[in-house]
Amino acid sequence: MAQLYPFTDPRAADQTPPITIASGDGCWVTDVHGTRYMDAVAGLWCTALGWSNRELIDAAQAQMQQLPYYHSFKGRSIDVTDQLATKLAQITPEGIERFFFGCSGSEAVDIAVKIARFYQNGRGKTDKKQIISRHGAYHGSLTTSAGLTGLAYAHGGFDLPWPIRVGRPHYHGEAHSGESEAQFTQRLVDELEATITDHGTDTIAAMIGEPVMGAGGVIIPPAGYWAGVQEVLKAHDILLIADEVICGFGRTGSWFGCNTYGIAPQMMTMAKQLTSAYAPLSAVGIHADMYEVIADFGHQHGTFGHGLTYGGHPVSCAVALKAIEIYERMDVEATVQARGAHLAKRLERFKTMNSVGNVRSKGLIAAVELDPASGLTGAMVGAEAEKRGVFFRIIGDTIAMSPPLIVSDDEIDHFTDVLEDSIQAAG
Ligand SMILES: Cc1ncc(COP(=O)(O)O)c(C=O)c1O
Repeated sequence: MAQLYPFTDPRAADQTPPITIASGDGCWVTDVHGTRYMDAVAGLWCTALGWSNRELIDAAQAQMQQLPYYHSFKGRSIDVTDQLATKLAQITPEGIERFFFGCSGSEAVDIAVKIARFYQNGRGKTDKKQIISRHGAYHGSLTTSAGLTGLAYAHGGFDLPWPIRVGRPHYHGEAHSGESEAQFTQRLVDELEATITDHGTDTIAAMIGEPVMGAGGVIIPPAGYWAGVQEVLKAHDILLIADEVICGFGRTGSWFGCNTYGIAPQMMTMAKQLTSAYAPLSAVGIHADMYEVIADFGHQHGTFGHGLTYGGHPVSCAVALKAIEIYERMDVEATVQARGAHLAKRLERFKTMNSVGNVRSKGLIAAVELDPASGLTGAMVGAEAEKRGVFFRIIGDTIAMSPPLIVSDDEIDHFTDVLEDSIQAAG
């Protein structure tokens, strides 16, 4: 074994080798010993079209043959990358019209922060530098994006930058006793307002947030949360960056989490399902009004001084165009709403289990949170599920699910049955 494995205890990996995956089909993967697992998290919330989509493979192969590489620096561009930008402008929320391409979600977040600062400098707001993020957020692994990530495991030992943090909209876990959802939401909105005032409106460039928080535990915001947040940000002239890396391309039952929650962002970050994870690609969507300032300021500098050798790679863009074509053809919104309704129905049964504290879902992203008093841990349940051939994402006491969007009702029945058995067996 020669890898330093990501998000893995290196000493534990030295002793217990990882499950090594060799192939995949539909919602299933097979390890090097021939054991099949259903992956109820679509890898890392990303393989929306499963593991054996022939059209995506053919699109990659055809592009590899036609033009395996080019770039978009200094008066050059790539046909298929331009086509993807045009397509994204059609499907993203109103006003998001320009796109900058990277290779990963973390890069997209880092790029969005750079662009936020460039924009604020360009309009003469040179003190507006800081970014607000939320406790429990996951925004990636590079220096800036890991700094914005509000999870201790991504910070330990790395001396990362520490942004301004506000609370997350986790009503089940963090409401005061007797507090209604509406009161809880208002408390978070008031806290945001007070935090901005404390730091000084003129010091804050942007706030970043996932419409539904994924890796932090599938935190589904209560009604009114995003409306309240946007009102505060608007009043203080602070940009909103919607991190759509998990929610984008259908996950919550609309094309974007922004559509599901009525969010009108100035920037959005996208990756993962953009290519169904068949090739690395990310994009930062930029509002047309911001673009005007950026273009003028870039012109003053003689260039927009930012670029990545592999950003907007033609093979990845060809795959993304094909993935979007497939999402359109399968009517991804209606499909996810229908499968999501089935999943929500199947999850009902967990609400009556003593060991379960909370059950939540939106479209095809869901979580079963164990009751801490039960003595069960997510790791115990995850280990039982693994023995039964299903992968979930274990986040502390929370068992998260985000299956490929091509999942069938029968497959949803299978992984929810396995989860029920696993909770019982672990108890
Ligand atoms: C919301 C969100 N933003 C950013 C990232 C980082 O993406 P990547 O792992 O492609 O760098 C992730 C990864 O899970 C994510 O969930």
